[in-house]
Amino acid sequence: MSYAIEAEGLVKRFGSTVALDGVSLTVPTGKVLGVLGPNGAGKTTAVRVLATLLRADEGWARVGGYDVVTQANAVRALAGLTGQYASVDEDLSGTENLVLLGKLLGLSKRDAKARAAELLAKFELTDAAGRAVKTYSGGMRRRADLAASLVGRPQVLYLDEPTTGLDPHSRNEVWATVRGLVDEGVTVLLTTQYLEEADQLADLITVIDHGKVIANGTPHELKRRTGGQSLQVRPTVLADTPKVAEILRELTGIDPVVDAENGLLSTPVDNPLLLSSVVRRLDDAGITADELGLRLPSLDEVFLTLTGRTTPAPEGSLA
Ligand SMILES: Nc1ncnc2c1ncn2[C@@H]1O[C@H](COP(=O)(O)OP(=O)(O)O)[C@@H](O)[C@H]1O
Ligand SMILES: [Mg+2]
Repeated sequence: MSYAIEAEGLVKRFGSTVALDGVSLTVPTGKVLGVLGPNGAGKTTAVRVLATLLRADEGWARVGGYDVVTQANAVRALAGLTGQYASVDEDLSGTENLVLLGKLLGLSKRDAKARAAELLAKFELTDAAGRAVKTYSGGMRRRADLAASLVGRPQVLYLDEPTTGLDPHSRNEVWATVRGLVDEGVTVLLTTQYLEEADQLADLITVIDHGKVIANGTPHELKRRTGGQSLQVRPTVLADTPKVAEILRELTGIDPVVDAENGLLSTPVDNPLLLSSVVRRLDDAGITADELGLRLPSLDEVFLTLTGRTTPAPEGSLA
């Protein structure tokens, strides 16, 4: 397999803070890697190292086969970045921003204008092309950022939390855009705090926490690896909830998670045969259930299993 991005043992310290504590990751060419982690995990630092904006203290990384330190210019020529930090000038119009970038990348004025018009059309910003970016909505702004990162036709694209703070509609627009780029063969490294986003977009997920990789794999593998399956029971009569909880506790040895709002009890199980015991015990107790079964844990539960805590809700959470 060929890798568009390879990193090994990246360490980055800021004073006494260890932002990256030996991060290794790979992204196969043409695939999407989701780097998933809570605020402060080291995601932006990793992206900045891979984008040649920051030098790691230890370890190495190659992008498109080029070393990010000794061949930084070659890396910059093939990688695009859109991030939490501004890549477009708020006071300039959409067109002005993209033309400026095109010229910086060595296009003639005419080619830069043509490329700008093409990208603005692609991101449905043609109507707003002449307006200052500061008048754009959040979703338009994010699309302008994406357009800016594509002026140089990157083969590798870094998207640092591309949908943080966006409303669900704008988020879906960004997701569709990312899928379109992947269809065109672009390799994407995307950072996110949203488990759902990684699940939706990524072929592979690397989970990082406190500068360390804590898990790696396809979304499906991650769900399988952590905690086997989840047993779910929703008693028909809400008042039966404590009795059901007691039965689950007896059979599994642990307290089930009770979602009081919708009357759902769930508990991790490693033995699927337990299901029939639960059915029998509920039947003995004369309790009926509207919902009873096994499923793979959600990515939220995966994170809980891996780190012992849930992901903190980010600012401007989509929830
Ligand atoms: N330029 C910097 N100076 C000092 N500390 C920094 C700097 N950049 C990041 N950090 C620290 O490094 C850690 C990782 O930050 P970051 O990579 O931005 O995490 P994330 O993007 O996952 O939220 C945090 O503790 C952060 O405060
Ligand atoms: Mg960040």
